[in-house]
Amino acid sequence: MFKDKKDNSKVIELKIDKLVAGGKGLGRYKNKVYFVKYTAPSEIVRVKVLKEKRDFGEAKLLDVIIPSSQRTEPLCPHFGVCGGCQLQHLEYSAHLQWKVEIFKEQLARIGRIKEIPPIEVVGSPQPYGYRIRVGFHLQGGRLGFVEDETVAQEGERKLVDIDTCPVLHPKLNELIPILKKVSANFKDLNEAQVTYSPSRNEALVKLISEKRISKEELKKIKEEFMPPWVVGIGSYRRVGRELIRLDFAGRDYTFINAGGFTYRVTAESFVQNNYLLWEEFIKLVTPQEKRGYSLDTFCGIGFFTIPFSKRAFFVEGSDMNNFAIADAEYNARINNSPNTLFTRATPSMHMKKHLDKEIDTVIFDPPRSGLDKKDLQVLKELKPDRIIYVSCNPSTLARDLSKILSWGDYLYEKAYVLDLFPQTAHIESVNFLKKTGEKEND
Ligand SMILES: C[S@@+](CC[C@H](N)C(=O)[O-])C[C@H]1O[C@@H](n2cnc3c(N)ncnc32)[C@H](O)[C@@H]1O
Repeated sequence: MFKDKKDNSKVIELKIDKLVAGGKGLGRYKNKVYFVKYTAPSEIVRVKVLKEKRDFGEAKLLDVIIPSSQRTEPLCPHFGVCGGCQLQHLEYSAHLQWKVEIFKEQLARIGRIKEIPPIEVVGSPQPYGYRIRVGFHLQGGRLGFVEDETVAQEGERKLVDIDTCPVLHPKLNELIPILKKVSANFKDLNEAQVTYSPSRNEALVKLISEKRISKEELKKIKEEFMPPWVVGIGSYRRVGRELIRLDFAGRDYTFINAGGFTYRVTAESFVQNNYLLWEEFIKLVTPQEKRGYSLDTFCGIGFFTIPFSKRAFFVEGSDMNNFAIADAEYNARINNSPNTLFTRATPSMHMKKHLDKEIDTVIFDPPRSGLDKKDLQVLKELKPDRIIYVSCNPSTLARDLSKILSWGDYLYEKAYVLDLFPQTAHIESVNFLKKTGEKEND
């Protein structure tokens, strides 16, 4: 150990044992655990200690002394500075291997789940160029993502100005110089969110600022700056985590094709980000055999509801987003799915309405926060035969599954780790639970 000359901080050498949540490498020094971003298992690294707590520390990578065989050259010049990606320094096969390990570790540590089911991993057909949805930060002609916390000075995470982003679909990259010009002309723009449909070669752009951009101005931006495949452009204001639509010019929806289905997606609706895995994702969630009355909570545009309805007696979808519900209703019509119904509801409100029925399957696909207490309480009363829990956050999944499994009615049968977000530490999974009827806790 020695001290950094510039700031007197501690510099140490570590061997990285494994990767943990957030894609950080874990190493030990004098019986203390240190987390270091951008490192790989089995390598020896020199690091600068950034934070020191009683039983762990956070450190910043200075040099790789002996590199891991899994180390590779990152594609992006901003890797390590931009906070968007965490794993570009690792070969793609290592992403899959470590995501499964981290997934299992979180189920065991956070959920205290003793019997981890068989886990299959589904990789992305391409590790770059897969993203069709993006939120750029804008600052008077500059465009990019927020700086990684390990490079941020005095806690302030600045914007990293980028010209390309290799995880984005090439068409989204084409929009970067265009959006920079728009931002230089409209200085109070804070963000631009874009959804691209590779099925139709169409994009929807949401411009976010404090001040409303009028419909006339939006039309001018569309005509003067945007390529013809940007079919709609809107002005939005951010209120907390919500975006409020102020005005819109052009068409406010596009269509995607996935797994033999066509879906309308309005600018406000959620759409799964990795278009290369859409078909596989639908296949995983759709049952092989016939199913009874089922519920798809957090249904969005009906991405799973509609394929599921082809095998089920009836499927009711619910979501709190009105735009998504309108899309789902429309999508049920164009995909000839009369045995579906959509309502604006939270999962608990939705499940409560069905307490008098035998429910076959309940699908959950919540945001990162997972299920809330009420959802779990009503689920306990409803006790469907099967639960399919699609999760984008293994820690909240582990917490929720721990609760569900504690009732003693369900067997955690199988899980898939689906790599929707290569190069990042995000872990998506599809989890299958089946009612056993045996109560272990009674
Ligand atoms: C991860 S997306 C999944 C959407 C859909 N299953 C799909 O694959 O496209 C989560 C969805 O949950 C909805 N949502 C967020 N919070 C909600 C809540 N408290 N109750 C119901 N829906 C909610 C969002 O509008 C969004 O459509």
